[in-house]
Amino acid sequence: MLKDAATAVRERAYAPYSNFKVGAALRTASGAVHVGCNVENVAYPEGTCAEAGAIAAMVAAGETAFVEAFVIADSPSPVPPCGGCRQKLAEFAGPDAKVTLATTAGQLFETTVGALLPGSFGRAHMEPADG
Ligand code: THU
Repeated sequence: MLKDAATAVRERAYAPYSNFKVGAALRTASGAVHVGCNVENVAYPEGTCAEAGAIAAMVAAGETAFVEAFVIADSPSPVPPCGGCRQKLAEFAGPDAKVTLATTAGQLFETTVGALLPGSFGRAHMEPADG
């Protein structure tokens, strides 16, 4: 179950600066589940988000598309992915891919990759314009 995978990997987050642990899990069409947690750094901008870690694990395992994502944190309400992670998620899933945002207390918010990043920049925008 994606929720269990995300919950378990969240415990391994390295977040000594924010003390805010995040876990993410991606399920691909093959049924495989890839997980990631946030990994912070004393040079703060060098930290990476849980979603980025899960994407890296998926690509390292040889897959480049997910069909469903689950993100969990200990927060008063389900934590929305940051802007950069929305673009990263959009790179590896269609707009209809389900994304569940969750709190450790059990609140769930279901959305999609497309809803998280409306008007997103995509490959089609790099096509040369006619004329
Ligand atoms: N963080 C994530 O890993 N994913 C999110 O969706 C929101 C924020 C991390 C980044 C940083 O390590 C900590 O949460 C506080 O921003």
